[in-house]
Amino acid sequence: MNKSSFLRAATCVVLSHCSAMAFALDPLSYARYDQVKTSDLHMDLKADFTKKTLTGYAELSLEWIDKSARTLDLDTRELAISKIRAQDANGAWSTLPFTLDKEDAEKGQALHIALASQPHKVRIYYRTAPSASALQWLTPLQTMSGKRPFMFSQSESIDARSWVPVQDTPAVRFTYSARIDAPQGLRVVMSAENDPKATGKGGWHFKMPQAIPSYLLAIGIGELDVRSLGPRSGVYAEPKRIKAAAYEFADTEKMIAAAEALYGPYRWGRYDMLVLPPSFPFGGMENPRLTFLTPTMIAGDRSLVDLIAHELAHSWSGNLVTNASWKHFWLNEGFTTYVTTRILESMYGPEVAEMNLQVEQEEAITSLATIAPAKQALLTRGPDTGSADYADEGIVYPKGAWLLRTLEQRAGRALFDPFLRGWFDQHAMQSVTTDQFVDYLRKNLLAQHPAVMTDAELDEWLYAPGIPASAQHVKSARLAALDVARAAWLDGKLPTAKLDTKAWQAIEWIKFLNDIDTKASAAQLKELDQAYGLAKTGNSEIAFRFYRASINAGYRDIRAPLSAFLMSVGRQRFVVPLYDGLRKHPEDKAWAEGVYKKARERYHPATQKSVDKKMTEK
Ligand code: BES
Ligand code: ZN
Repeated sequence: MNKSSFLRAATCVVLSHCSAMAFALDPLSYARYDQVKTSDLHMDLKADFTKKTLTGYAELSLEWIDKSARTLDLDTRELAISKIRAQDANGAWSTLPFTLDKEDAEKGQALHIALASQPHKVRIYYRTAPSASALQWLTPLQTMSGKRPFMFSQSESIDARSWVPVQDTPAVRFTYSARIDAPQGLRVVMSAENDPKATGKGGWHFKMPQAIPSYLLAIGIGELDVRSLGPRSGVYAEPKRIKAAAYEFADTEKMIAAAEALYGPYRWGRYDMLVLPPSFPFGGMENPRLTFLTPTMIAGDRSLVDLIAHELAHSWSGNLVTNASWKHFWLNEGFTTYVTTRILESMYGPEVAEMNLQVEQEEAITSLATIAPAKQALLTRGPDTGSADYADEGIVYPKGAWLLRTLEQRAGRALFDPFLRGWFDQHAMQSVTTDQFVDYLRKNLLAQHPAVMTDAELDEWLYAPGIPASAQHVKSARLAALDVARAAWLDGKLPTAKLDTKAWQAIEWIKFLNDIDTKASAAQLKELDQAYGLAKTGNSEIAFRFYRASINAGYRDIRAPLSAFLMSVGRQRFVVPLYDGLRKHPEDKAWAEGVYKKARERYHPATQKSVDKKMTEK
């Protein structure tokens, strides 16, 4: 524990109001939201693509809780702050002194603003750094048209502070508005009300009337077209990608309706999507009203729309009911992973949902082999002191979902579905901790039906490594047939041409490629590639797994498409494991380093950071 978080934790024990509020401050933020909270943010910013900066001001409206407080502490990272002004209750503005602490590698710099009284508003004039951790500034060559530049943000988890000085913690929610200036011919979109008819004359205007945590602040600027998908949804994408995107996302309205039937009204007005260039570091990001998506999910056959189901599910789990700090991340992602499968089931039927769930569970088990036991729990017990104790991000998705699935199976849907809907309704627009969920679970399910889960088993799910032995593993009948064929093929008893792949859905290819990884030989992968053109598939989930199995088998004919993939796609879930696989094979290591040397500057700062880390691991 560093000194400042120790002091903050100690303060919390001493001050009665702190324990009464039953929270410890978020260790990844410098904000003292026990003293003051942001209720609204207004941004007035100009995007400069030559300098790679946003310049302007952020105006915070403040709600003072502790009447004796005389400082405002905000989170920043690499922000150049020129001036800070405050407005008192009479509307008069004055300039305020401020200091910036030394930079902390993880948290950035605390900004301390000294106050004579408790202003209603403060305005911070600043400029972002070209290396801002949330922002990626793309050259025209990194876009589809090759003609205009592009910029987008990725604020989750704690990178909003690199483009706006805020209380950067999911414990604080605020409404926001913005006026953004951008070069002519580029469109600006944000996680707010986007007017599809706006022209940008006099700047682009946004309003987000619902209070959101800072990690959901988002902006995208580029040459963007827009297509309506239905009354509540639409898609923004580069002009050359808009048609493919509109085709791929055709089911969106139905998906919103399916989610609503399960968990109640969609509360965010519109559900639009922004398709980013391929360097987007994630599959998707649930920015409210405007999900951000990788173009690698456009397979051409709608086979990867589970990603949309996932980001849409966050409209309940995460955006409506938010993890109070990153320690409780499983409340966002585990719940969302559960809800995703429920949406898939109601859209595409139980067989599809079951296949997806089985692969999710199998991949979870496989991943345990490379996660330290201490990182396999959904969360650690004890105080929230910092990210060093947090769970492995990857495991909380399937494991959290598995816990909910277990409760659902034992209680039955007639009980569990209203229970989960009640969780969302009763905690809507709030930030919540695991203890709050456990309380809710005890009061609303376990008290009446104690046989559903014992305290000891619940404890095991939350705090123990691995997957509890009591967990049920889904077995899809359709995937069982695949097992037989795969085993025979690996043994050389079933020729490649006899694999009955015609009726295979993408998920079946995914499972097949998972299961032959580290088992198939280079010759077998070559045969597979020649028969089915896997190195050139338009389905990135299949391509990724084919490359991975090829690397592990030493099948190197894939180098050309693999390097093209690594040169354009910046999605961490693909590129990090691929570089990792390559560097572990002596014959591939130097080649991989060469590719990365060229590709690095094309990646988002988040991807650079994780690949850098991987490449230097022992
Ligand atoms: N909220 C996450 C992305 C995220 C997580 C960003 C942690 C920063 C820190 C998003 O909803 C997500 O989970 N994306 C997944 C989707 C997949 C599991 C379907 C992704 O990008 O791979
Ligand atoms: Zn998610």
